[in-house]
Amino acid sequence: MQFKKIGVVGCGLMGSGIAQVAADAGYETFVQEVDDGLLEKGLSSIDRFLSKGVERGKLDEKRKSEILSRIHGTTRLAELEEVDLVIEAIIEDLEVKKKVYAALENLVRPDTVFATNTSSLCITELAAGTRRPDLFVGLHFFNPVPLMKVVEVIATLSTEPEVRDAVTGFARSLGKTPIQAPDRPGFVVNRLLVPYLLDAIRALEEGAGTKEDIDAGMKLGCGYPMGPFELLDFVGLDTTLYIANIMYDEFKEKRFAPPPLLRRMVLGGRMGRKSGKGFYDYS
Ligand code: 3HC
Repeated sequence: MQFKKIGVVGCGLMGSGIAQVAADAGYETFVQEVDDGLLEKGLSSIDRFLSKGVERGKLDEKRKSEILSRIHGTTRLAELEEVDLVIEAIIEDLEVKKKVYAALENLVRPDTVFATNTSSLCITELAAGTRRPDLFVGLHFFNPVPLMKVVEVIATLSTEPEVRDAVTGFARSLGKTPIQAPDRPGFVVNRLLVPYLLDAIRALEEGAGTKEDIDAGMKLGCGYPMGPFELLDFVGLDTTLYIANIMYDEFKEKRFAPPPLLRRMVLGGRMGRKSGKGFYDYS
């Protein structure tokens, strides 16, 4: 099983990054968004990232043009009809995702593999809603996609081992290190990361330190690139709350329970960098 043409559904933060790394690895990449405005925004962010890379001497203009020439942006899902692997990276909404898979199934070949970049929904449930649960996997990238080296591959009970291996090989061909993860909330990385972030909020609530000191402690004491509050703002407080709720619902363990401060910050509109304010002010 070999993939040559890649489809990416969704050209937001994750989808645009996935399209970029696929094109960078030499794949003809077809990326779809629902309207011209969102598509333009996603494609511009790819262009900006590559231009910064040129400024930093990571690639030259010729390479940048080659990568961009392999990215085919569209608002029509039908343009993905010839792809061998489609990676869905849209909103975390089960019903919306199911609709997209149903539309895709009527367009693509019966042997086209479906992968989802979901960080929180159950892969087995998503796969069961399609006619190809054997050809369905989770493929979870990390933000920022072009810089983060790991990708989680999530096979369900129905995934064909050959499909899991082919998708694992695909992740490797992007220059990433694939790790196998179970189809359980949080997979591997968020299962460890989210309780750590929640604990940092609890530490702040309990007066263990200021956010600045806790961030400095974890960065300088443990060599983390960001402190927990910087990372919470980067990931998005709403996203963290959403994942924590799903993990708590499944496991009913206190360590996954969102602390009151997190819920209140989200209710108050402080989502982190994306809203201009989270634990820190970005205005
Ligand atoms: N093109 C090419 N390379 C680039 C680049 C570009 N446009 N921008 C940055 N880089 C390279 C730099 O050259 C540098 O590489 P080098 O060390 O070889 O020189 C490296 O990327 C880091 O760049 P900077 O030093 O300029 O950037 P920062 O120090 O500000 O780091 C960061 C930015 C990589 C985001 C870092 O802060 C980090 O790793 N933060 C943690 C991010 C993280 O944990 N993400 C996971 C979130 S959880 C998730 O996504 C899961 C979801 O389900 C919630």
